[in-house]
Amino acid sequence: MTRRAFATLPILGIPTAAWAYVVEPGWLEFTEHTCPVPHLERPVDVLHLSDLHASHDVPTSLIERAIDMAVEAKPDLICITGDFVTVATGFDCRWYVSVLSKLARSRPTYAVLGNHDGGSWSRDGGGFHGTGEVASMVESSGIQVLADRSVKADARGTPVRLVGANDIWSLRVDAERAFGEVRRDEPVVLLSHNPDSKERFANKPWHVMLSGHTHGGQVVVPLTGASPAPVSDRRYVAGLKPWGERWIHVSRGVGSIKGVRFNCRPEVTRLRLVPARLGT
Ligand SMILES: [Fe+2]
Repeated sequence: MTRRAFATLPILGIPTAAWAYVVEPGWLEFTEHTCPVPHLERPVDVLHLSDLHASHDVPTSLIERAIDMAVEAKPDLICITGDFVTVATGFDCRWYVSVLSKLARSRPTYAVLGNHDGGSWSRDGGGFHGTGEVASMVESSGIQVLADRSVKADARGTPVRLVGANDIWSLRVDAERAFGEVRRDEPVVLLSHNPDSKERFANKPWHVMLSGHTHGGQVVVPLTGASPAPVSDRRYVAGLKPWGERWIHVSRGVGSIKGVRFNCRPEVTRLRLVPARLGT
């Protein structure tokens, strides 16, 4: 979500603006979806968080509530799909590490970084130049950052292959490296911040992709669904959707840019992966 996009927002009436700036950005929703995944031995609950956006625009209490909600859901795995910060300032690193560490202490937690977390897009916007600062902060909390690599995660005894990709706006993406250890007979979850990245991995063996980046549109026009979501494929702005034989879940995220949301509540999602033969 670009800051410039919000300069073009239509002028809102005062009650609507109060709702959009005061009420809805903090009105966190717990959402649930079920997704069939081949080669899975038994159901696995993946808790999906995205776009925390620690900054002056996002209250620390909102991030703390989202993380408490994630821990209380008692998932098997936790995945975070980037944009931990908005720019290089506006958050307390020690506070952030202590809050994020609650996740890693509760369950195995994995993450990829987003366009705000460093790299070419962030540098050009006055943020972190490289991804080292945010990656170090996140890993200090016990969360594994997957930068074009995969791990065989242990979901309470059930193996799940997690592949984490670099953000397409920020860094060179090496799909060969990311999928180098992936077998075609294992359940594969791809973490990639921007849902527009799906074509980069079209010939790779993944079953469900977790993304963020859009914030669900953040300001969504009722009835039409129009929004300033910064993606080219408007089919994948929010929710769980099929893409051919595969699935893509795009989180509306927790934080926001400029602290505004309308018709698009922040969310924490439990994605229940089920063996494909039991899929809905
Ligand atoms: Fe974001």
